[in-house]
Amino acid sequence: MRDFEFGRTFDVVTCLFSSVGYMLTIDDLNQAVGNMVRHLSPGGVLVVEPWLHPDAWRIPHVTAEAAQRPGMAVARASTTGRQGHVSSFTLHWTIATFEGVEHIVEDHELGLYEVDEYRDVFVAAGMSVEHDPVGLIGRGLFVGVKHT
Ligand SMILES: C[S@@+](CC[C@H](N)C(=O)[O-])C[C@H]1O[C@@H](n2cnc3c(N)ncnc32)[C@H](O)[C@@H]1O
Repeated sequence: MRDFEFGRTFDVVTCLFSSVGYMLTIDDLNQAVGNMVRHLSPGGVLVVEPWLHPDAWRIPHVTAEAAQRPGMAVARASTTGRQGHVSSFTLHWTIATFEGVEHIVEDHELGLYEVDEYRDVFVAAGMSVEHDPVGLIGRGLFVGVKHT
């Protein structure tokens, strides 16, 4: 998201379900949002669904979910951590099929940024910005318009 190049602009760019959280520094966030805005036509709209904000990240926290359908059962347990403004979680997957059982471990790190930090990044990229504190799934939503 920091350096994709499509050689054209779009009327709307969306970055949803906290993908932007993988930007672990404000510099990365500026680069990513700046690159999305670069792909917007004047007056175009950027919609960004943030990751959690610092106060919302709870550690330690453990959780588990499971789902199944005929021929497949999946369980996922996770633990959380934090280093400064970087949240981390490790997902332990157990996937059972008729072929056997597979275990996968995924480590994820996402940046925890304040609402105003996101706003500043939009404004720095030449956007006006509105923040909806609820958004699509309760994580909030930033909607920006590129100045013409
Ligand atoms: C939680 S998923 C959201 C996927 C999709 N936006 C959605 O709404 O379902 C986060 C996605 O961010 C992608 N991602 C992580 N780091 C990225 C980066 N530096 N540039 C582009 N995508 C990245 C991951 O591969 C993953 O698919």
